[in-house]
Amino acid sequence: MTSVRDAVTALNAGNLIFLPTETVYGLGASAGDAAAVAKVYSAKGRPHFNPLIVHVADLAIAESLAYFDDRARALAGVFWPGPLTLVLPARDNGRVSDLARAGLDSVAVRVPSHPLALEILQAFGSGVVAPSANRSGRPSPTRFRDAVEETGAYVAAAIDGGDCQIGLESTVVSLMDGVRYLRAGAVTRQQIKSVIGPLEGDDHDGHRSPGRLTLHYAPDAKVEINVTLPESGCAYLAFGPTSYTGPVFQLSASSDLSEAASNLFKSLRDADKLNPSKICVAPIPDHGLGEAINDRLKRASGFIG
Ligand code: TXA
Ligand code: MG
Repeated sequence: MTSVRDAVTALNAGNLIFLPTETVYGLGASAGDAAAVAKVYSAKGRPHFNPLIVHVADLAIAESLAYFDDRARALAGVFWPGPLTLVLPARDNGRVSDLARAGLDSVAVRVPSHPLALEILQAFGSGVVAPSANRSGRPSPTRFRDAVEETGAYVAAAIDGGDCQIGLESTVVSLMDGVRYLRAGAVTRQQIKSVIGPLEGDDHDGHRSPGRLTLHYAPDAKVEINVTLPESGCAYLAFGPTSYTGPVFQLSASSDLSEAASNLFKSLRDADKLNPSKICVAPIPDHGLGEAINDRLKRASGFIG
């Protein structure tokens, strides 16, 4: 079994690791080591204009990488450790390589809550870049075996952190130009507003994360969303009871959004393995966590421009 110590040794040697988090598995490297960061982009096949999230053990280390104002501290105070990434003005002190930031003057930081991630980050003591451990454009891995299938060949330390509890990537909020909700996740728009008041913009007004490519999170099979009864030959991702007699992957029998989020990416992967004519997905309500689930589904189906 790979240990936390093996992971830290690998990071210090400029090699890649799996960083198991509560959201999805990350492909980790030392944030200040440009050569190690370059390995992350190449293992994922990720375009260099799409910056990475820097993971740290606590707020004090985060403040050594970025400038925090009162709103940033308030959000960190409520949601860290947890599934919230903050985009903030970067400190130019070399602790995060330019490549990790894709040359921007901002940096994305988060403190994850998975106990193994925290142990690794505490023992390492500085920032670890970790995009989701999938090859670029594919569904994020939420189980150890999925991470191994995607990018296992590139890591020196493959830590098994079990199944990811949340199953969707972190919420991304930028404080660079007002408050902008760039990527929906388990921390909802309403929760952000309840801490710092109204948002000044969102993903729909042209202020996007550089990584918001149109077709994303996509399996090989074509994905069709909002389907109540699929035609035969399809694999079906159901949300609650269904009369479909073909292969069914139940996101949540009791129509629970958190359960559906945690099952989403693994169901897309498992459905894809059956080589269906299409993967059809039941309608998911758009409130609360449903916004994040529908965001990923629309991208998987190529629906969002
Ligand atoms: O839950 C997560 O966030 C997972 C786990 C491993 O922590 N990581 C993850 O990383 O989803 P990735 O690279 O797949 O997604 C990072 C997102 C991208 O949409 C990227 O464009 C955005 O964060 N991002 C990173 N730095 C940014 C910046 N400076 N400004 C705006 N967006 C940024
Ligand atoms: Mg990703």
